[in-house]
Parts: sequence; C-alpha cells; structure tokens
Amino acid sequence: MISPSSIDQVFEAARVEEVIGDFVQLKKAGSNFKGLSPFSDERSPSFMVSPVKQIWKDFSTGKGGTAVSFLMEHEHFTYPEAIRYLAKKYNIEIEETVHSDEQKEAANERESLYLVSEFASNYFKKILHKTDQGKSIGLSYFKERGFTEETIKKFDLGYSLDAWQAFTDEALKQGYNIDFLEKTGLTIVKETKRFDRFKGRIMFPIKSMSGRVLGFGGRILTSDKKAAKYVNSPESPIYNKSKVLYGIYLAKQSIAKEDNCYLVEGYTDVIQFHQRGIKNVVSSSGTALTPDQIRLINRLTKNITVLFDGDAAGMRAALRGIDLILEQGMNVKVCTFPEGEDPDSFAKKNSLEALSLYLEENAKDFIEFKANLLLDETRDDPVKKTEAITSMITTIALIPDEIKQQIYARRISSIMDVDESRMYDSIARFRSRRIDDLTKRVQNDEFKDAKLFDVVKNDFETRKVDIQYVLERKIIEVLLLYGNKTEDFEDLVLKENDKNELVLEPVIHQAKVFEKVFLDLQDDEMEFSNPQFKTLYFTIIDKLNQSDNFELKSFINSVDQDMANEITTILMDDERYVLDDWNRMDIFPKEKNKSVAQLVSETILSLRCFLIDQKVKEYQQETVENKIDTNRNILEEVKDYLSLKMLLSRKLNRVL
Ligand code: CTP
Ligand code: MN
Repeated sequence: MISPSSIDQVFEAARVEEVIGDFVQLKKAGSNFKGLSPFSDERSPSFMVSPVKQIWKDFSTGKGGTAVSFLMEHEHFTYPEAIRYLAKKYNIEIEETVHSDEQKEAANERESLYLVSEFASNYFKKILHKTDQGKSIGLSYFKERGFTEETIKKFDLGYSLDAWQAFTDEALKQGYNIDFLEKTGLTIVKETKRFDRFKGRIMFPIKSMSGRVLGFGGRILTSDKKAAKYVNSPESPIYNKSKVLYGIYLAKQSIAKEDNCYLVEGYTDVIQFHQRGIKNVVSSSGTALTPDQIRLINRLTKNITVLFDGDAAGMRAALRGIDLILEQGMNVKVCTFPEGEDPDSFAKKNSLEALSLYLEENAKDFIEFKANLLLDETRDDPVKKTEAITSMITTIALIPDEIKQQIYARRISSIMDVDESRMYDSIARFRSRRIDDLTKRVQNDEFKDAKLFDVVKNDFETRKVDIQYVLERKIIEVLLLYGNKTEDFEDLVLKENDKNELVLEPVIHQAKVFEKVFLDLQDDEMEFSNPQFKTLYFTIIDKLNQSDNFELKSFINSVDQDMANEITTILMDDERYVLDDWNRMDIFPKEKNKSVAQLVSETILSLRCFLIDQKVKEYQQETVENKIDTNRNILEEVKDYLSLKMLLSRKLNRVL
C-alpha cells in the first residue's frame, strides 16, 4: 500500500497539462490547452485541459477528471498504478505502508505482470552487459550490426542466456510468481517442466506509450532454418499486439514535433533510424497495421510516411493496410528503398543528411503512388485497367474529408486517364453503398457495444432556454471553484433613516461562499430541479462543511467516475464555446473582471428571481384555470412575490 502522505505528495506535484501532454498533443488555447480526443476518432479538437483548474474534459465522450483519472482512463491504470507512474515521472519516492514481499502478493494481476516484465527487462540487460556469454554473443552481435553502446542502452536491449531455464530460476528466486511468469509468456510451463521462452536470443523490450514494458521480441542469432528468426511475447492482459507500436515511447515527442511519423517494419529499422538521428519512427513489428495502432499515431500527428523494404513482394499486400490509415483521415506518404535495402541497412550506410534527403525526395503521396503502381501492372489490358480504377475509387472513397477527396479524384483521373465526372459518380455510389451497409449493420445491432454511433446530444438549444438549468449549474460551479473562500458580501437591508423613511441600505458581512449559498437557498426553500445537480450540491456542501481545505483535485478524485464526468462538464463548459466559436450564452455578462462575491450574489439572485417568476406564472395559471375563492389569497401571494422580486432586482442591479 502506498502511504497517504506519498499520495498527497504526488497530487501536489502532478500537473495535469504535463501528464496529459505525454499522450496528447496539446495546443495553447487561451488559458487552456486543447487537443484531439484520445478517446475517439474526432477530427476537430474537443479535448480540453485546464492548467488553472487542474482538470481535463473530453467533450466528445463526456469523460473528464484529474491527472490521475486521465491515466486510469487512458492507460487503463489502476489507481495505485497511476500514483506510481506519477511518482516516477516527478521523482517522488513512494513510501509503502506494507512490507514489499506482501505487496508483491497483494498487487493486482496487471501490476504483477508489469513488475515481472520490468524485472525481466532489467535481467536481460544485466546478462547482456555483465556476463561473458552476454558480452561475447549478444553484445558483439549488436556491435556487428552497428549499434553503439548508447543506442543499446537507450532501447534497453538485452540478451537471454542459452540455457533452458536460467531466467525462470532467477525470477523465482527473486520471489516472482510462476503464474505471472507464465501469463507474460516469459516462461513456458509444461507439466512439471519450465522453459525460458527466449532462450539464447537478443532481446527487444516492447514498451507502452508511457514507457512500461509490455512484452518482448527476441531474435535468434544463428541462422537455424528450423527456428523462427523472431519470437515475440504472446498476448497477455498487458500486451495486446494490435495496440502497441514498437518505439512509440521514444518517438512520441518527435512525432508531435516533426508532425510526421515514419512507419517501418522491424525492430532494427527503428533502432538504426534513431541512431542516425531520425526519432519520429515506429514499427508495427511485422504485422499489418491495425486501427488501434493508427489511433496511437493519430493522437500525435496526422501524417504518416510508410517506409517499404526494397523487395516489391510485400508491397502489394501492404497497400491494402494503408486504406485503413486513409480511413482515419490521415495523410499518407510512402517511400520505397533501393532493391535489397531496408530502412535499417539504408540508414546504416548513409549519413543523416543523405538519409533525410532520400526520404524527402522519395516520399510520394500514397494515392498517386498506388495509381502509378497499378497502372504499371495493367499495361494495356482494359480489364485490368478497370480493376485498377475500381481499386483506386474504393481507396479515395475512404477519405473522410470531401475536399481532399475531390482533389484526389481529379489527380487520379488524369493519371489513369479517366473522365473526372465519371470518377465522382463512382465515388458517390461507393460511399452510399458503404452507408447502406453501415446502416444495415446498425439495424442488426452489430455495434451494440461500440461508441461509434453514440448519439451526440446537441443540447445547446434546449439549454439556451432552460435558464434554471444554467443557473443551478452555475451555483455548482461557484461552489466547486470558490466554495471555501471567505468573501465580503453586500446585502441590502431595510432600514429607517433620519427622516423615518424605510430605505434599503447596503450592509457588508463576511462569509464563506458555500455558507452564503447554502443559507440563501435555504431561506427560499429552494430545491434543485435537476436531480444530478441536487446530489452534487449536497455532496459538495457536505465536503465543504467537513473540512477547511477543500481541494478541487482531491474532491474529484474522491467521487465516482460518473460524478467526476459531471463535475468536469460543469467546470469546463465555458471553455467549450471557445472550442466551437460559439458565442457564450447571454445569461451572464463576462465574468472576467468581477469579484467572486459579485458572481456568487448575482447567481443566487438570478436564480431567486427566476423562481419567483415561475411561482407567479403558476399562480396566474391557477387563477385562470379555476375561478375559486382562493383567488384573493393567490393574488396576495403574487403581490408579495412581485415586491420581493423588485427588491431582488434592485439588489441584482447593484451587483451588476
Ligand atoms: N518478425 C516477427 N517474426 C518473424 C519475422 C519477423 O515478429 N519470424 C517481425 C519483427 O518485428 C521484425 C519485423 O517483423 O523486426 C521485420 O522482419 P524482418 O525484416 O525479417 O526483420 P528485421 O527487423 O529486418 O530483422 P533483421 O534485420 O535482424 O533480420
Ligand atoms: Mn533487417
């Protein structure tokens, strides 16, 4: 268990914009940062981070919270995992309240799998650098391939001894559980026997975006025809091949900065590029690119350059995978290497300047590249040519941006010599067929669990008229932001002046914001109409009542995820209009140069006025509907209300 004081320390140190900045490319937008939601495939940014409030909000999914909850949502960390991660990031030493042996036992499965993987990575490194076999076989092989000491360290490369269970024995000796060794695939268990999966291989640890070891690739050093060149970790609760890109941890910053990502096939391609000085490079590790992997890149940049080995054989198959990238609205270029070269060998042979120049001159727009490639193959065969055109149309039809689509249609029609308008027609037909198809799948409930078709509620219209909703929510906002502040409130009190007239006189009294809110609303017997706000209201008042140091960050962390989502919606909603260029609602004048006391008074008074209006309307309705004796009473009531309203309006005017 992590000690509470360590948790506090972590909370204090963690800056939400820094934590999220490691995963999402954030751009300054006023006093906030904005970026593309890492939780959906959006194209215009609706993800906001507030350094002032220390919260984030994703308007595309409604999720929101603190730095910790971001890590839990995004990295699927548990709470302790998130704390540990932050402690590492901010160099905070964590105090454990339980002995570390027990802790190993108690930590949940995922954490155990991470721990055992981390241990393995350190072990393989140690073997590589510190043992005779490691040095003479592993290290010398890496050196032969041209990797420097620095590179080897940077990628945490390692070596697994050529012995049946050297690693497994050591791990067990260190107290790691055999179940976790088996689950991560590091150890193969057969009845009573145990084998090291990576026996006699050089080791490439595969890391998550945040740098945790998820699994390994191990390359054999002999040219044994029977054994596979590479062995990889099997899928496990922490390692999902289709969601990982080799090198992403070391590349993410450069990808964002260069606004481009090079995609290569192998581990060694990534490493050699880095060593040459090109760092925005990742590998899908020999498998076809998946939508999840593209999404990882999409968070950092819109531009991918796919680098192909010199041999043409794999290229055709790979082309199909690229359609997936287009479909996610990304710009794709492709670059081939000379016959017999792959990115690794080419980077090894050439200087950084030569490599950069080569990439610049040879990276071609994917769609044109594909058109030319297909055209070459058709020669003058009309059937083949029709096939090629159809294939191009299906590709172009996948591009989500219509303008981009048109530009491509024009270029392709000239490259392939087809009529431009016929091209548009075909694309349109293809698209409508796709839509039909999707509709059918929706009707068949195929997306029951998918977020794809979640109805995005556009409640802007309704909210505009629902003043009560807005005001109630404003009260919650005020409580969250300023609840604990002590302010000078001005109240107007009826007093008798020297001439014996009753006048309204301002009286200043000090109070905490939450007390003022609570007492004023209680005076009016005001009830929240929105049930969620009501729950929130009482939860917040309760918290504020209990302790003097109400902290927004810790409060959000203490409530359940639904409530955290609601809170961040309330706190960030103003910011939303910055995103969408919508004008702010006119219910409140700009708050910027207003004191907290003014804001609080104004909000409460506005709500009270509104409620009185409602009451008056109700009464008026009643008097119209049933002409009963009570009319007189009702009229009295209305009169009372109206005079109260007048009083309130005068106060409100003072505030405004
Ligand atoms: N790969 C794999 N299993 C194999 C072969 C390949 O997982 N049996 C993956 C590895 O991630 C490898 C990538 O596919 O890095 C590309 O394969 P290849 O080009 O054969 O390997 P290189 O990375 O070029 O390795 P090397 O240069 O060491 O031969
Ligand atoms: Mn190679």
